Amino acid sequence: MINTLPIFLKGNVCKGYGRGSKELGIPTANLDDDVLQLLPSESTNGIYFGWAQVDSSPVYKMVMSIGWNPFYKNTKRSVEVHILHIFEEDFYGSTVRVIVEGFLRNEQDFSSKEEMINQIKMDISIAEKKLLEKNFMEHLNYSFFLPSVNIEHQIENSEITEKSNVNGFTNFVQSNI
Ligand SMILES: Cc1cc2nc3c(=O)[nH]c(=O)nc-3n(C[C@H](O)[C@H](O)[C@H](O)COP(=O)(O)O)c2cc1C
Repeated sequence: MINTLPIFLKGNVCKGYGRGSKELGIPTANLDDDVLQLLPSESTNGIYFGWAQVDSSPVYKMVMSIGWNPFYKNTKRSVEVHILHIFEEDFYGSTVRVIVEGFLRNEQDFSSKEEMINQIKMDISIAEKKLLEKNFMEHLNYSFFLPSVNIEHQIENSEITEKSNVNGFTNFVQSNI
């Protein structure tokens, strides 16, 4: 578990094993190994929630996993972000900026895929609620995030739940549509 939160991570999206979307219906953006260098200690492994931005997209809620994915017995440690937004296309090669706000639990093994999916759905529902707290919402104001370029498109197509004005730029937080 990371003791000093929030932490800020920036990484490029690379190919994972591809099981997130296909097997679990929970797509994840796998961040490149440089991000692991920022999280050198094994003690940072676990499941977290926070905010994420893909290139200059709006800032979305996210849940993430850091570690070895014991259910799949991976031989490579990974940082994977599941963004609470439906993207039309893959975004391999994009830059993802992440603020890790809180710890949810340790990584677990499960006796079935369905059990793991149910647990991740619970993680998502806790994250959805937690992130509405003022102390987390305030971090949307950090200039760490880029101003969003496609806000109008996003307004037309989704339900805006919160809004904050940031140094003359507006960041929108959206519900999962
Ligand atoms: C919020 C969240 C929680 C997760 N929790 C676990 C876990 O407890 N145990 C585990 O083995 N993998 C966990 N994972 C990782 C999934 O197994 C992983 O995303 C999946 O294997 C897809 O990886 P891939 O994109 O490399 O194929 C979690 C992933 C997310 C996004």
